Formats: sequence, structure tokens, C-alpha cells
Amino acid sequence: MIPSILPTYNRTPMAFTEGTGSWLLAEDGTRYLDFGAGIAVNALGHAHPALVEALTAQAGKLWHVSNLYRIPAQERLADLLVEHTFADTVFFTNSGTEACELAVKMARKHFAAKDEDRTRIVTFEGNFHGRSSAAIAASGSEKMTKGFGPLLPGFTILRWGDHDALEATLDDTVAAVIVEPVQGEGGIRPMPDACLKGLRELCDRHGILLILDEVQCGMGRTGRLFAHEWAGIAPDVMMVAKGIGGGFPLGAVLATEKAGAAMVAGTHGSTYGGNPLACAVGAKVVEIMTESDFLPEVGRKAGMLRQSLEGLVDSHPQVFDHVRGAGLMLGIKCRVPAPDLVAAGYAEALLTVPAADNVVRLLPPLTVSEAEIAEAVSRLDRAATALVRDAA
Ligand SMILES: Cc1ncc(COP(=O)(O)O)c(C=O)c1O
Repeated sequence: MIPSILPTYNRTPMAFTEGTGSWLLAEDGTRYLDFGAGIAVNALGHAHPALVEALTAQAGKLWHVSNLYRIPAQERLADLLVEHTFADTVFFTNSGTEACELAVKMARKHFAAKDEDRTRIVTFEGNFHGRSSAAIAASGSEKMTKGFGPLLPGFTILRWGDHDALEATLDDTVAAVIVEPVQGEGGIRPMPDACLKGLRELCDRHGILLILDEVQCGMGRTGRLFAHEWAGIAPDVMMVAKGIGGGFPLGAVLATEKAGAAMVAGTHGSTYGGNPLACAVGAKVVEIMTESDFLPEVGRKAGMLRQSLEGLVDSHPQVFDHVRGAGLMLGIKCRVPAPDLVAAGYAEALLTVPAADNVVRLLPPLTVSEAEIAEAVSRLDRAATALVRDAA
């Protein structure tokens, strides 16, 4: 019999009842150290007092009004994002996949408004932009698309790192390129800064819009507010979600005036997008992350975690291959099946997340402490030791 929850997830049996900072309390009383953070969602940890206060204060005043009216909490968050990023304008969504939908629509509309017949969107294999029809067409992988055809047409998917294919494909029939500066689901694969710069130049040469998907790698995760800042470039359009709501459903599309100008009244909408509760939390998240010492602290702790992980890789060569990633978005490429390491972590009450390419992701809250980093590394050490022992 089909369960009451449509079984689209392979769930592990643990269920959590409470969270504080980097810790989750399970139904059976076990305290888990959370180095998954809801897959990069709980950027400020669980139950951050300032977020609880922002949410409850708003909840006592007003939950929802239609986008037919001005929403001051939404205006405040949009102004903050415009102040701290390349963007001139913002549309709020409830998720990353909705941000992907709008980014694709925006790119096509941009050229349609100029009477230019440019609809092609170029993406890279290994990407993950969500589960909507546009996002799965952008992925192209069999796992994502099988049985869901006919797919939205107009997507060209290139091999990651294939510069020749990129040069050959980008011409003036292409509307946009979509790329994650650090692929998340694809196995924590950072695009080198020089490649991101080169991509920006190619897009400029052909008048193509550059859309960055910073749903997973954005919102402070790499030690800058957005990952592309390391490469010294700016996109035309950017998808954001996950960390921006700190656990409350919120996403956004950020755009330059030029890229967004064709999205006039009536071209897009959302009942809940930019809801007062979500935006009250989002504004508090951005305020905290843009305090002067927040991002440097992320960088410092990221360095610490990375160094400890490199040591761990050296001491368990049968289990680990190498560490990669940026900031507090790190992946360990494994020599054992990655899900086995994740499961061995569960046995040590440590939560991590598997990704493609046999990688285990470490995505702790950005507020993680030095002591918690040391604790996570020693739990991983024990998990790796147990794997080797069990294999013997
Ligand atoms: C890079 C990236 N883009 C888009 C999405 C889709 O976001 P959502 O699950 O909020 O729809 C995800 C989710 O994992 C993601 O990692």
C-alpha cells in the first residue's frame, strides 16, 4: 500500500523534535551534530534567537497579504539585497526551483522584448537547479528526466570543464548560461575563478545573460555573501534560496535592471512569494551575515575544518580520497561508497549529506563553533575507523 507520504524520498528512520545551534535532538533522545544543516538551509543554525524573535514578532502582527499590495517586510529585504549585491531588483519565491523557473523565463523574455529570437539556455552536466519542468530540462540527466517527457525544449547541456565545447556553443543564438559557481548535488565541484571570469567574458562577447545558481553556494557559505564574488565578476541574474530563509521557505531571483526590465506587470507572480513572515526572517539573516565580522569568521572556521579534514584523509587512505569545495561547503571524495560513510556517521550521531561523484558533503551551520568542528572531525574519524574495521 502506498504510504500516506508519497515515497519520493529514501528516508532514514531518524526523526528530530528539536534543534539548537548545530545540534538536533532525535525522538530517541540522541543529540546529533548537524553537518548537513538541512542541505545548506539552516545557515545560522537551529532556533537562532534573532530569527525566532523576527519570526514571532511578525507572526503576532501579520502573516499574509497578497502581492496586490505593498509589503514593507518584502521591500526591506529587497533593499538589503540590492544594497549588498550586484542586483538592481529582486523577485521573491518560496524555493530554489521556483527561482530557476523565473530565471529561465526572465532570460527568454529579455530577448523576446527586443524582438530577438534567442531562447537557447546552456547548462553544465552535474547541475541541480530543482525539480520543476524547466529545472529538470536544464539538468538533462536520465535520473531527473526519465518518464517526465516531453521536456521543455531549448536546453543544451555541456560537459563540466569542456572549454572547447563552451567556446563552440556560445554564440548569438544563446539567451543565457546557467551555472552553479560551486556545484552542490553534483559533488561539491567549484568552478575555478579563472573559468568563471572566462565565462563572463564569453557571455559579454555574445550578448548572453549569465545566470548564477547560488541556491546552495550562496548566502555566506563560501565566506563571501555570494560565491561569485571570489572571481571578481557579477552575473546578470542570480537564483538564491536555502540559506536566505535560515529554514523558513524563501527564495529569490536577483537581477540587473537590464536583465529584469522586460518582466513588467502581469508577466510573473506568486501567491506566497515575498510573504511577510519569510521576508522578516530573510531580512534578519541578511543583516546578521553582513555584520562586519560574520563572513571573516566563516572563512576562519572553514580553514580550520578543511585543514582537519585533510589530516583525516591522510590517516584513512582506504576510506577517503580527497577534500574539495569552498568555505563551509566541503566535499570528501570517498573510496568507500559515500552512503556507507554517511551511515557510519549516523552511528556516531553525526549528520552529513551524500552527493554525486561518491562525495560526502559537509555543510554545517555557518555559526558552527571551533569545538563543534573538532567534534565533527573526531566523529568522522571514528566512523572511518569503523568502516575499515567492518570491512576487515
Ligand atoms: C544549486 C541548487 N539549485 C536549486 C535547487 C532547488 O531548490 P529547492 O529544493 O528549494 O527547490 C537546489 C536544491 O538543492 C540547489 O542545490
